[in-house]
Amino acid sequence: MRKLLLTNAGWIATPERPGENHAIYRIHRRPADTIYIEGENIAWIGRYRDFAGGRNIEKYDLDGMGVTPGLIDFHAHPVFAATRETEYEMRTSGASYQEIAKSGGGILNSVKKVRKASQGDLIDHTTPFLDSMLAHGTTTLEAKSGYGLTPDSEYKMLRTIIKLNETHVLDLIPTFLGAHEYPAEFKENHEGYLKLLIEEMLPTVARENLAVTCDIFCETGVYSVEEAERVLYAALQHGLSVKVHADQLTNVGATKMAARMGALSADHIEFIDDEAVNQLALSGTVAGLLPVAAHFLRMKEDPPVRQMIERGITCALATDFNPGSAMCENMQMAMHLASIRFRVSAEEALWMATAGSATALALKDRGWLGPGALADLVVWDIADIQMLTYHFGVNHASKVFKRGNLVAENGRAIV
Ligand code: NIG
Ligand code: FE
Repeated sequence: MRKLLLTNAGWIATPERPGENHAIYRIHRRPADTIYIEGENIAWIGRYRDFAGGRNIEKYDLDGMGVTPGLIDFHAHPVFAATRETEYEMRTSGASYQEIAKSGGGILNSVKKVRKASQGDLIDHTTPFLDSMLAHGTTTLEAKSGYGLTPDSEYKMLRTIIKLNETHVLDLIPTFLGAHEYPAEFKENHEGYLKLLIEEMLPTVARENLAVTCDIFCETGVYSVEEAERVLYAALQHGLSVKVHADQLTNVGATKMAARMGALSADHIEFIDDEAVNQLALSGTVAGLLPVAAHFLRMKEDPPVRQMIERGITCALATDFNPGSAMCENMQMAMHLASIRFRVSAEEALWMATAGSATALALKDRGWLGPGALADLVVWDIADIQMLTYHFGVNHASKVFKRGNLVAENGRAIV
């Protein structure tokens, strides 16, 4: 087993280990300068002078820089076949997201291209984005299907994600999003596509272990709350966990439905009402915050984040990286935008991007630093975590360790 001693950290800041006394939104500054890693896990954190020592231990000097857990991007659509900058130009000159979708753009534009792409094409297109994520401090990434919308093209996307999880150092967690939109050929036959989702796609996804979670875009003009409930109920019956793109553009009651179904998270939630906040507070459903999409779509509305924090609701932070509404793979930007839009502190933003996101993915072995946690960590070239949200638009991640290996340095993935 490889043994690695990271010495001379300027500071080590982390959420506490999830458990009974786990204080949410608290970042604990460990009185330590040294991290000892055995294999893929952290074995010890403390002061160098207190380290017991041992044989065959490699040493790595962190040069006074700061350390946090690796960032966890719990909501992203990184697999697509082409970018959509022409639509972005339409939007910057005034068209709305819905207008672009009606004129043949939007999700269905990506669908046409993904259907034609091979798994190899998708891997080649996605890999540089994963490298860039890693270089910006992301060590775990959720990745959705949803640009295929036929059984075979959805399975192709999920198999691409599974393949990338095996070949790329990032951990990728596959989510089935066959209900991202109604495909054009089912425009007049929603019932037919629902049947395909429920009777064919979900059973196959579950049987062949193509995904662990099922997501749905529950929104006016897309999937109604009733339709979403049917799809998610089927997913639960097949042993998948569920999550929802909820109340992003209008208040349809999707967040309440997500809480009712025991969803891992209700994401976007710009249009939630007080009753939905109550439901989140009573359930274990995480509030998924995606400020990059809100920024990119020039939205005026924001979720009531301060109120949710006061109510003890777990909030998580992600990029929502996708070609239509969030062309940004950088979690540092998500943290910056969270601080501006939601009035959260750097500490709160970091907590949401680590412990909060781990909770949204039901992962207990990461999102914190301590004995037993995965050795996923970011080494930051900043004096304090406050700089993370304040000094924006640059990459502060100097080094990234994934499962104990140095995988990115000075803004580049080591491949
Ligand atoms: O999370 N809201 C729905 N889905 C994506 C957008 C996908 C796209 O435009 O390609 C989102 O914002
Ligand atoms: Fe999304």
